[in-house]
Amino acid sequence: MIPGSSAPRASAILARPYSLGSLTVRNRIAMAPMTREFSPGGIPGADVAQYYARRAAAGVGLIITEGTYVNHASAGTSDAVPHFHGEDALAGWAGVAEAVHQAGGAIVPQLWHVGMARSAGAPPVVDAPRVGPSGVPVLGSDPGQAMTAEDLDDVIAAFAAAAGAAEARGFDGIELHGAHGYLIDQFLWAHTNRRTDGYGGDLVSRTRFAAEIVAACRSAVSADFPIIFRMSQWKMGDYRARIAESPQELEAILTPLAEAGADAFHCSTRRYWLPEFEGSDLNLAGWAKKLSGKATISVGSVGLDSEFTKSFRGEGGGVADIDALLDRLERDEFDLVAVGRALLADPEWAAKILQGRTEELTAFDAAAMSTLH
Ligand SMILES: Cc1cc2nc3c(=O)[nH]c(=O)nc-3n(C[C@H](O)[C@H](O)[C@H](O)COP(=O)(O)O)c2cc1C
Repeated sequence: MIPGSSAPRASAILARPYSLGSLTVRNRIAMAPMTREFSPGGIPGADVAQYYARRAAAGVGLIITEGTYVNHASAGTSDAVPHFHGEDALAGWAGVAEAVHQAGGAIVPQLWHVGMARSAGAPPVVDAPRVGPSGVPVLGSDPGQAMTAEDLDDVIAAFAAAAGAAEARGFDGIELHGAHGYLIDQFLWAHTNRRTDGYGGDLVSRTRFAAEIVAACRSAVSADFPIIFRMSQWKMGDYRARIAESPQELEAILTPLAEAGADAFHCSTRRYWLPEFEGSDLNLAGWAKKLSGKATISVGSVGLDSEFTKSFRGEGGGVADIDALLDRLERDEFDLVAVGRALLADPEWAAKILQGRTEELTAFDAAAMSTLH
């Protein structure tokens, strides 16, 4: 239970609006991107609109959608994850954006290519190859194909087309999924990127593909249309993986991305209160803001007392106070906070926090993940 004394403080700190380019978020609460697999054939329907609008109506300032596939044959690995291309899917997404706006929220799609995380033979394009920087999987030894120069151009163009479509269909920005061991992150990570051309080698070269995607997206949208880049140290299946061992290495990744046109970094960690590097208690979002001067979003077990990988093992978690989070927000360590499971479990989480109704907060039950609504 969150102590009652922190409730007015929570509303005061979280209710402050935040501006990022053409986007003004009415408070500091974002919904973290969470894959649902409720879009048969890749088309988000009215139920998807309702799912997000419900959270926006209850006070979430910025919805970051579940990952949505860009237009490349090898981008996906499920028939129920929404696409961000094709008239039907984009019309569905326009309806989602409209519903969220009507509920008072802002919304960005999370644009996604899974790269080597694709299962061979999986939909939506069953005969598409598994591709990545070097054909090296994140987990195990089952090889895929190393991407050719043409593949790189195709994927970059697919992200740019999706960015343009997001602006045209009424979204408030985009988020690029550069985290968790999916395609963009496979380039950043030395384990999966063994290339010897200009896209592999040192950290700056490994960041080149990501930076070219950011630059292509920047060219496809208005100058003030926000581009958020999501990144993480950890990978699905390897929670100890790191792409930056020091602030200097983190800066080597962030600088070309910022120069290419990224406006914000969404730094995915499993526990927001853990220091990222020795000698400071700044978390990854804190370091990214300090090093890049850009806006950052923090995430990881906000409002819960267990980290999210436990939920994949069927474990739930209790409600935890957010005092440490408020301390960090108050000193502008980062700008926004993304909330995942707490918002799945309780669509009213933001309203309850902002209105001080903390005694009504409900605990996260991992079973809720199978009936997300
Ligand atoms: C069911 C589920 C699906 C997720 N899908 C995505 C995704 O599509 N893209 C992404 O970047 N992160 C994804 N994540 C990670 C979340 O965005 C978030 O970083 C993580 O849950 C930690 O936040 P939390 O502790 O508040 O839940 C997912 C997490 C969960 C629980």
